[in-house]
Amino acid sequence: MFRVRPPSPAALALAVTLACVAALAPSRAGTPVQDVAGIERGRILFEQRWSVAPSGLGRWGRGPTSNGETCLDCHAGAGRGSPPASAEVPLRQGVLRLSQRVGALLLPHPAYGNQLQYQGVLGKVPGEGEVHVEWHEHVITLADGTRASLRRPVLHLTGLPFGELSADTLVSLRLAPALGGLGLLEDVSATTLARVAAGQRAAGVSGRAHLVPDAGGGEPVTGRFGHKAMQPDLRARAAGALFMDLGITSSHFPAHDCPPVQWECARLAAGESREIEDAEIADLVLYLRALPAPASALREPAAAGEGARLFTAAGCAACHLPELGREGYAEPVRAYTDLLLHDLGPGLSDGRPEGAAEGGEWRTAPLWGLGAYLARAAHAGLLHDGRARTIAEAILWHDGEARAARDAYGRMSARQREALAAFVESL
Ligand code: HEC
Ligand code: HEC
Repeated sequence: MFRVRPPSPAALALAVTLACVAALAPSRAGTPVQDVAGIERGRILFEQRWSVAPSGLGRWGRGPTSNGETCLDCHAGAGRGSPPASAEVPLRQGVLRLSQRVGALLLPHPAYGNQLQYQGVLGKVPGEGEVHVEWHEHVITLADGTRASLRRPVLHLTGLPFGELSADTLVSLRLAPALGGLGLLEDVSATTLARVAAGQRAAGVSGRAHLVPDAGGGEPVTGRFGHKAMQPDLRARAAGALFMDLGITSSHFPAHDCPPVQWECARLAAGESREIEDAEIADLVLYLRALPAPASALREPAAAGEGARLFTAAGCAACHLPELGREGYAEPVRAYTDLLLHDLGPGLSDGRPEGAAEGGEWRTAPLWGLGAYLARAAHAGLLHDGRARTIAEAILWHDGEARAARDAYGRMSARQREALAAFVESL
């Protein structure tokens, strides 16, 4: 059902963009209609600034604790986040997930919950503390004697009002991914992903679909969004982002879960439920689905050229699939991911399982749009926690299932390594 309303100028501008996406992603035969008005309402929600108290600025409903005031705080221009510029500046475009082992169970942290929310309500509810990232560097030497410096994050948490985290607390630092083109990835069927996983054994890698609980209580479903592919679809991720990152309740998350020690939070949260309606979340999803894929994805795969050849020869394409088919659509999606979990080894492990994903398992990051991000960001950070400053560093962190690919890269000549990185930046 589509509500008919004259589109606003912004909606018309979006419609033009969508026409371009449509060229890339022809819609299912018989349903060419785009709900332009719904997408426009979704854009407004995505850019909405949420306030914590009935103040004049923004729509009320955020908090009591939150990590931002709007989706844009972490996904500026619907893009990806960057790590803090220095150890003095707190993390803003990412989050820190927390949990604690109790026997065989993995539970949210008893005092801080499952995500450290930096913001509270001034004078009423304390924020949960700040995350500062210090980088520790180490140098590695490649086969031809080239030295490369890699950095790994060491976290310093400050201003923790409910006590320090005990040594057995499991933490995971995550930067916000880019959001363009996710609608195309949502259209890849679970069957396709299962088939890709089964086919990978021959290539020496062993990706697996992350089966996560079905919100409706049915059979487990295939997760695909988030760095560990915890969410099966954009609706689940959008409702989760509203709740976890902004503190906005909905039918999906009807009550704030203030840990018992946070009584100020519980007091303020009492009676707050459904701060956003299901129909609004549906509009937000329409907007997310309409966000165009990076412009480079419109081109045919750059099959020619040395970089492309090296990408395949080194085994990168086994996980970073150049094309994924979408049932019912003629055009595949060219995101250079398989949406599967892969064990990338102890160096990248956060030691914190999430769902069925182990600490070292991550969803293959899509490679489209990386060049544009690297060119634009003042402090670019690749990989889930932003530790890699360049494509080369990102590759050198690959281990575990991707060790053979990384070693193949390490054996290349400097000129070949540059050709490969240039290819990845062009995707
Ligand atoms: C405080 C920062 C922050 C804010 C604010 C935020 N996000 Fe995110 N977003 C993240 C992080 C971090 C991830 C990766 C999460 C993970 O790995 O589980 C993410 C992931 C996502 C994804 C999945 C992307 C992918 O490639 O799988 C979507 C969709 C998304 N966010 C939408 C939203 C929307 C919509 C809002 C506003 C309601 C929002 N986000 C607000 C940090 C943020
Ligand atoms: C076994 C599967 C696998 C293979 C093989 C593999 N990768 Fe990856 N790649 C991943 C996963 C999983 C991630 C996400 C890791 C993370 O988020 O920390 C990733 C992340 C990346 C990133 C960072 C992307 C971003 O958005 O931050 C780059 C760049 C990359 N890979 C390039 C390559 C190249 C080039 C090769 C070949 C030399 C390669 N990969 C081989 C699985 C693989």
